[in-house]
Amino acid sequence: MESLFPDFKLGKSATTIAPQVKSSSLDKIKIIGGNPLNGTIPISGAKNCALKLMCAALLTEESVYFENSPNTLRDMNSQIELLEYLGCAIKCEGSLMAINASAIETYTAPYDIVRKMRGSILVLGPLLTRFGQAKVSLPGGCAIGTRPVDLHIKGLEEMGATITLDDGYINATAPAGGLQGAKILFPKVSVGATENLLMAATLAKGETVLVNAAKEPEIIDLGECLIKMGAKITGLGTETIRIEGVKSLKGVRHSIVPDRIETGTYIIAAGMTGGTLRLQNARIEHLSAALGFLSQAGIEVEQDKNDIIVSREVERLQGVDIMTEPYPGFPTDLQAQFMAMLTLADGAGMVTETIFENRFMHVPELSRMGADISVQGNSAIVRGVKSLKGAEVMATDLRASVALVLAGLVAEGETTVNRIYHLERGYEDIVGKLGGVGANISRVSGE
Ligand code: EPZ
Repeated sequence: MESLFPDFKLGKSATTIAPQVKSSSLDKIKIIGGNPLNGTIPISGAKNCALKLMCAALLTEESVYFENSPNTLRDMNSQIELLEYLGCAIKCEGSLMAINASAIETYTAPYDIVRKMRGSILVLGPLLTRFGQAKVSLPGGCAIGTRPVDLHIKGLEEMGATITLDDGYINATAPAGGLQGAKILFPKVSVGATENLLMAATLAKGETVLVNAAKEPEIIDLGECLIKMGAKITGLGTETIRIEGVKSLKGVRHSIVPDRIETGTYIIAAGMTGGTLRLQNARIEHLSAALGFLSQAGIEVEQDKNDIIVSREVERLQGVDIMTEPYPGFPTDLQAQFMAMLTLADGAGMVTETIFENRFMHVPELSRMGADISVQGNSAIVRGVKSLKGAEVMATDLRASVALVLAGLVAEGETTVNRIYHLERGYEDIVGKLGGVGANISRVSGE
């Protein structure tokens, strides 16, 4: 395998399986609340970018190298499992990942792997555009909503693909000469559909125009990596992305954008606990909508070169209303954490979720800790209480789980967050990072 990755110095530690992911998914986190957080937390590369970049590796037979890759996340391991199943060679060392897709053996992404993580639907566009065929299991619903993939399918059909749905699989075939460039108008903004069509268009014939495209920083980063691989793309970060198809793409070395949701989560942790945190390698400009609301609540954030420094300006944070929206609006992936923060604020705040229909799973669990929250449809009114009480809690979604960790950091007494599995999907070494800045947090065996 070394010959596939000539500029990758494989040491003894090179592995595709991250050590902490080998542990039991039943493990729990125990937190004794009350410690302010002070110190430095390194921010990892963005999960929701890394997962897509890994799919972009399928677009070329040359090796690609990703730096600042959050290799220890469970979701990354699910994506590795899928790409290896397809025939990719993959090596990880520290935060470097190398992928070579020169010997793809199958174009089928099976249900058993896809069901673990919806991000695997992103292999559809790359496989179809490079090999002319793809069979990908429908990911199905998930805890936060039904999450259809109709926009991905419709866009590929507009590029000339023939798609049938058989036995829970998307069966896609490109026309004889390959996918054709097309003007694709998304009726609603979708991160995943924009990414799938962006990747498919890089190797299509002629020009593709994506109208009402998503503008997330992770999509810009994916697009910039594709450009380095030889793709012709303009308009990244705007509503209209234009892609002029090329014959082939080449290998690349690319450093993944910092995770803005991990950053936002630790900003809220600093605000809630009242300490001062330096978040290393974080980009303030990717959180501008959220920062406006956090500043209204009383959290001060400033950029210091590549770091962000966060502190609480006031004795008690203030209640603020938020509504989730596609980027650059307030991110749905920070909604649960913001709600955890509001539970202890002075006054009330209203949280309106407009992206996913079922993203309030944290509400009953926060209520068990003493929060005062009432939900009406897609809005929740959070009336700040004086204190939260530690409890045994569990959530079935990544961001809901981390919101419970945040609540545990400030609750009186002990909080046990069950099913650490969800946290490990999206937060690298959360126990080590929070413990390193003063939190009384530990991982205990769930066996
Ligand atoms: C991505 O999901 C993220 N996942 C999500 O992060 C994030 O919450 C979401 O974007 C919104 O920012 C990854 O990047 C792996 P969408 P995605 O397509 O691409 C509807 C986390 O916690 N829709 O923008 O699936 C859909 O049901 C995760 O890290 C259709 O109707 O989100 C939703 O209501 C959770 N048809 C809305 O659009 C489609 O074909 C936005 O979804 C596609 C989407």
